[in-house]
Amino acid sequence: MNRFDELAKEWDLKPERIESALKTTTKIKELISIKDKDILDYGAGTGLICFQLFEEVNSIIAMDNSQGMLDELNRKITKANIKNISTNLHNANSDTFTKNQFDLIVTAMTLHHIKNPQRFILDATDALKDGGYLVISDLESEDGTFHSLGNDDVEHFGFDKEKIRTFFKNAGLDIVYLETNETIHKHRDFDVFLAIGKLSKN
Ligand SMILES: C[S@@+](CC[C@H](N)C(=O)[O-])C[C@H]1O[C@@H](n2cnc3c(N)ncnc32)[C@H](O)[C@@H]1O
Repeated sequence: MNRFDELAKEWDLKPERIESALKTTTKIKELISIKDKDILDYGAGTGLICFQLFEEVNSIIAMDNSQGMLDELNRKITKANIKNISTNLHNANSDTFTKNQFDLIVTAMTLHHIKNPQRFILDATDALKDGGYLVISDLESEDGTFHSLGNDDVEHFGFDKEKIRTFFKNAGLDIVYLETNETIHKHRDFDVFLAIGKLSKN
C-alpha cells in the first residue's frame, strides 16, 4: 500500500484540493476548446480534474498507479452514473501509452512523483494526436517541506519553470502558456505553475 492508497478515502475532504483542480480546469477552459475531445487525466487520483471536465468532453481516461485512488474514483463514477470516464491502473515509471490517442493530456500535482519527468513528457507527447495539448500543473521549486508526511515517494522538490520549458521543447511541444497559476498556503506559500504545450507535427 502506498501513501495515496492510504489517503484515498479522505482525499476529497480538503476543500483546497478541489479549489486547486478548479484553478487548473478554469485556465484550461479559458485557453483551449475541450468540447467533444478525448482526454487523459494522468495521476488522476480521485478524479477532481475529471469531474470538472467530463460534461463537456467526449471521453476521459483516468490513469493512476494507486488502486486505492482509482477505487475511490470508480465509486464516485458509479454513484453519479457517469458514462464517459473510465479508469486504468498505470505506472508512469514502467508502463507505456498507446500513440496518437488523446486530444488533451492533463496531469495535476503528479509530475514531482515521477522518476523521469522528461521521459514521461516525451511518452505523453507521443500519446497526443496532432494538434493535441499537454497540460501540466505542479509545484514550482520548493525546499522539500511541502509534503508533511515526508518525502519517501517524492522524486523532485518541484520544478523551475525554465526546466519545464526545456522538457516541452525537447518533446517538440510549442509553449502556449507557462505561468504561476496558484499559490498553496501551508506553513509557507508554495507556488504552482501551469504549463500548456501544443503538438504540431508539421
Ligand atoms: C498529489 S496526487 C494528485 C491527484 C489529482 N491529480 C488531484 O489533483 O487531486 C498525485 C497522484 O499521482 C499518482 N502517482 C504518483 N506516482 C505515480 C506514477 N509513477 N504513475 C502514475 N501515477 C502516479 C498518485 O497515486 C496520486 O493519485
